[in-house]
Amino acid sequence: MRILFYAAKSYDKESFDVVLAKYPDIEIDYTDHELGPRSAALAMGYDVVCAFVSAKVNSKTLQALAGRGVKAVLMRCAGYNNVDLEKAKELGVAVKIVPGYSPEGVAELAMGLALATSRRLCKSYNRIRENDYSIDGLCGLNFYGKTAGIIGTGKIGAAMCRICLGFGMKVLAYDVYENPALKDRIEYVSLDKLLANSDFISIHCPLTEKNHHMINTETIAKMRDGVILVNTSRGGLIDTTDLIRALKQGKFHGVGLDVYEEEAGNVYENRSCEMNFSSTTSRLLAFPNVVMTSHQGFYTKEALNAIAETTLQNAKDVEKGLRTANDVA
Ligand code: NAI
Repeated sequence: MRILFYAAKSYDKESFDVVLAKYPDIEIDYTDHELGPRSAALAMGYDVVCAFVSAKVNSKTLQALAGRGVKAVLMRCAGYNNVDLEKAKELGVAVKIVPGYSPEGVAELAMGLALATSRRLCKSYNRIRENDYSIDGLCGLNFYGKTAGIIGTGKIGAAMCRICLGFGMKVLAYDVYENPALKDRIEYVSLDKLLANSDFISIHCPLTEKNHHMINTETIAKMRDGVILVNTSRGGLIDTTDLIRALKQGKFHGVGLDVYEEEAGNVYENRSCEMNFSSTTSRLLAFPNVVMTSHQGFYTKEALNAIAETTLQNAKDVEKGLRTANDVA
């Protein structure tokens, strides 16, 4: 089986090449091009392609892939909101994902962002490097005894609930389905009640058409003043313009974002020599109480290994024509 691996970074090659040793009949060619309608042409002669979160797996891309005989798209990630599943089904192109490679890793980053913004760790780090030992403006909040509101209690949200319980927090949760494993230790409430009663809100649900911009001016107004908000799920869950407006009004103690609306085309690229004044990302970065990372929740050694293992197993399943719980189309 031949796989064309899109948007390959050095760390992808390292983790996949190690696991590939167990699959002598699979051959991988790596390209740094992102998968999209034009770059799909590169897949001529390949059985399957492998893509990451920011790939544009839209109708045109899928048509181009199917036209070149590609049988499947292996997403090496959990989210698949950029994939046109209906088109994939219509064309008979299988789409497989890696559903839960390291939920704790993402949840740990979410708590890391919450602590970083609460205690102004990034500002503090920069000050001390300049020999500035002053601490004015760096006052944080305790988490112990406070209330965490977790939106989405699947694999990552459940790990986040456990972390917050470990911090001595009361945990409120909102999900369209309640997780029976958590019911005794946390309280499921409506979204409105969660927003109104949480000191720290962390988002862990997938982005769908229904919940696009679920955090907006109206829902932000329902939150407590001085709340900490963290998003490690998908940028489109928050209306960035509304978030910026509320930040200007001093609504939040802190905001931590691993994901944001403008990230496609930016994440994993070095744009440090470019001027980027008009983007909402640059406006977010101007706030001293906003801490941002570059969609790196997945990026731990354990997760990279698990992604490579599951993706190559998914490739074998395509070869055998097997459908599993990892199929989304
Ligand atoms: P999961 O499928 O295990 O859990 C998602 C939970 O959200 C489910 O319990 C589901 O019922 C719930 N949900 C669905 N729609 C909802 C809504 N409208 N409101 C409230 N809850 C809703 O998924 P998992 O593995 O926990 O991942 C969650 C999300 O985290 C992914 O969809 C992905 O967007 C994001 N993610 C981010 C990563 C990063 O690197 N920052 C890495 C991996 C995932």
